[in-house]
Amino acid sequence: MNAPVHVDVPPSDLARLRLDVAPLSAASSVDAAADAFLAPGHARLLCLPIGERGRIVGTISRHTLNNVFLRRFGRELYGTRPVTSLMNAAPLRVDLAAPLEDAARYVAAHLGAPITEDFIIEQDGAYAGMGIAIDLLAALQRRVDDAYAALKASQAQLVQSEKMASLGQMVAGVAHEINTPLGYVRNNVEMIRDLFEDGVGALAEHQTLLDLLTSETLDEATLAAQIASCQARGASLADAGLVADTRALFRDTLHGVDTIKDLVVNLRNFSRLDQARTADVSLNDCLEQTLVIAHNAIKHRVEVIKRYDAALPPARCSPSQINQVLLNIINNAAQAIDGDGGKLLLKTEADDHWVRVHIQDNGRGIAPEHLAKIFDPFFTTKPVGQGTGLGLSISQQIVHAHGGTLHVVSRLGQGTKFVISLPRRAPAGVRESEA
Ligand SMILES: Nc1ncnc2c1ncn2[C@@H]1O[C@H](COP(=O)(O)OP(=O)(O)OP(=O)(O)O)[C@@H](O)[C@H]1O
Ligand SMILES: [Mg+2]
Repeated sequence: MNAPVHVDVPPSDLARLRLDVAPLSAASSVDAAADAFLAPGHARLLCLPIGERGRIVGTISRHTLNNVFLRRFGRELYGTRPVTSLMNAAPLRVDLAAPLEDAARYVAAHLGAPITEDFIIEQDGAYAGMGIAIDLLAALQRRVDDAYAALKASQAQLVQSEKMASLGQMVAGVAHEINTPLGYVRNNVEMIRDLFEDGVGALAEHQTLLDLLTSETLDEATLAAQIASCQARGASLADAGLVADTRALFRDTLHGVDTIKDLVVNLRNFSRLDQARTADVSLNDCLEQTLVIAHNAIKHRVEVIKRYDAALPPARCSPSQINQVLLNIINNAAQAIDGDGGKLLLKTEADDHWVRVHIQDNGRGIAPEHLAKIFDPFFTTKPVGQGTGLGLSISQQIVHAHGGTLHVVSRLGQGTKFVISLPRRAPAGVRESEA
C-alpha cells in the first residue's frame, strides 16, 4: 500500500470535507482492496482510490466488492485478480478550489441509486484526498439553510426600513406643515409684544397724570400739559388700531395654535401607535388623515376630488397599516403627476361583503410591460435614491394579510386607478384589538 498522502490545501469549503486517504496501488489484489475497506479510517467511505505512478486511475467501490463476493465462490474466483479489473475507471473528480455549490451540483448529477461512489478531490490535477458524497450534500443543505435564514432576515429588515422611510417622509411632511402656522404664530406674538409695549407707555402717562392729580402742589399748567400728552398718546394708539389689531392678532394666533394641534392629533391618529392592532374604522377617516400627511406632496399642484360614501360601513383592519397603504398609493399618484392640472379622485363604496377605496390619478400612467411588475419588491422606474420600489409590494402584502385585494388599471399618458377592497369583517388571521 502507498504511504498516506499529505497535501497542503487552503481552507476552502471542500478542504473541510477532504479526507486523507492513501490510494491503493493499481497492483493490489481484489482481496487487498476488500481488506483496505476494513481499516478504521475508511469506515464511512463507499469507494477507495486506486493510484498508479502518482495518478488516480479509478476507484473500487464497496458495492462492487459486495456484488462479487455475494456470488458463489466469488472471493475464491476474484480475490486474487488485480483490483483494476473491477475498478470504475471514470470516478467523480472535483477540484479543491471549486465552489461547494458547483461540486455538489456535479456530484449530485452523477450519483445513481443506490449511491455507490464518493468523489476524488484534486488540486491542480493532482490527487488531494477523498470526499464523502453525503457530507457534501449535508454541507450544501447547511449552506442553503444559512442563506435562507439570511434572506428572511434581510427581507424583514427591508420591510422595516421601508416603514422607517415612509415614517421619515411623513414626519418631514408634517414638520413642513407645522412650520407655516408656527411661523405666523411667532410673528404675531412679536407684534403683540410691540403693541403691549405701546400700551405700557400709555399706562405710564396715565399714572403720571394720576400722580399729579393727587399731589398737594397741583400746578394747573403742568396738569394741562399732562392731560394733553395723555390725549395725544391715546389718539395715536387708537390711530394705530391697538385694540382691533391686538384682537385680530390673538384670533390669528389661536387659529395657528389650533392648526398645529390638529396636525399633531392627525399625526397620532395616522400612526395610531397607541392602537397598532385591529379596530372597526371608517376608510373615509383614514383617507382624511392620510391626506393631511400627504398634503405636502399634493398641495397646490393637484386637485383632490372626494366622492366618499357618507354611509360607508366600517372595515375591521389595522388602521396604521391601512393608512400606510393609502399613503403609498397617494404618494405614487402625486409623483406620477407632472406640472399643474393634476387630479386625484378618492372614492369609497361598499357592498354586503366589501369596503372599497378607489384612488385614481390623471398622471403619467404605467406602461403595459411594467404593469405586471409594479407589485414586485424593488421594481421602480424612479431615479436611484428616489424610490426603493417597495411601496406597492408592501402595500399588497398588507392588503392580502387583511384578506383583501389590491387591483390596478392604468393607461399610459392617461392615468392610473388603484382599487383597495377590504372585507367588512377581518379574516381570522388578523389579530383582534386588545381593548
Ligand atoms: N399612480 C401611478 N402612476 C404611474 N406609475 C405608478 C403609479 N404607482 C406606481 N407606479 C409605478 O410603479 C412603480 C413601483 O411603485 P412602488 O410604490 O412600489 O415603488 P416606488 O414608488 O418606485 O418607490 P417607493 O414607493 O419605495 O419610494 C413606480 O416606480 C412607478 O413606476
Ligand atoms: Mg411608491
